[in-house]
Amino acid sequence: MSNSRKPLVIGNWKMNLDFVESVHLGQQLGVRLKNRPAEHTEIVVAPPFVDLRSVASIVDSERIPVAVGAQHVNPHENGAHTGEVSISMLQRLGVTWVLVGHSERRALYAMDDDVVAATLRAVVRSGLRAVLCVGEALDVREDEEQDRFVEAQLVHALRGLDPKYHELVTVAYEPIWAIGTGRTASTEQVASMSGHLRRVLGRLLVVESRVLYGGSVNAENAASLVAEGGVDGFLVGGASLKADSFLAIIQACDDCYALMANRRS
Ligand code: PGA
Repeated sequence: MSNSRKPLVIGNWKMNLDFVESVHLGQQLGVRLKNRPAEHTEIVVAPPFVDLRSVASIVDSERIPVAVGAQHVNPHENGAHTGEVSISMLQRLGVTWVLVGHSERRALYAMDDDVVAATLRAVVRSGLRAVLCVGEALDVREDEEQDRFVEAQLVHALRGLDPKYHELVTVAYEPIWAIGTGRTASTEQVASMSGHLRRVLGRLLVVESRVLYGGSVNAENAASLVAEGGVDGFLVGGASLKADSFLAIIQACDDCYALMANRRS
């Protein structure tokens, strides 16, 4: 973890939890997080579109220190895009974060690098925070091409972005072979890729961005990944669906951050 950046943990609920279940999880998180000191790990949850309204309402009415994110958005302003949701619709619901280019969107819904770049631009121009997801498939890793591959994704998405929007961009490294598989990247692999991403970001002059890791993060591996992986936090799928495991991951980031702060003082 970096010395200066505040850690961030994002729960990506994917296509799980209906409206009733999401209210239940929102309330459980609320009870446990309500009196949390504000200086600790920043928390975001990204429920399915249909749950956004109810989760945002709970967060708002209970004053829970959690931001609400969407898992995807259509970059067009409005119009004939059956089944899609626009940025202004999200904003009206109190959404402040959007995942952009998750590997499942790229692989299953034909989201190519151009659409990822267009979506990222639309999101940050509207003042929302974007989590740009990058990551290689297993064959790319086996060919040891992961650095080049992920760099190309990052450069394509960020090249030419007006620097005034840089602070709204977070990068999530999510190797596809580690997502939902129980096969986590090793701390060495995460440290190597987070270092590489920071060098590329530095070259693009996007120096303030946080770099997250995602891929089978759980209560057991979070502490070592955040302490030794050089990342600023996590994008969590499966383990974000239960309050206990999600909160344990947040706690691991809090502990690591507190340790760093102690060393600094
Ligand atoms: P996982 O998903 O934690 O279930 O592997 C991570 C993600 O896809 O964001």
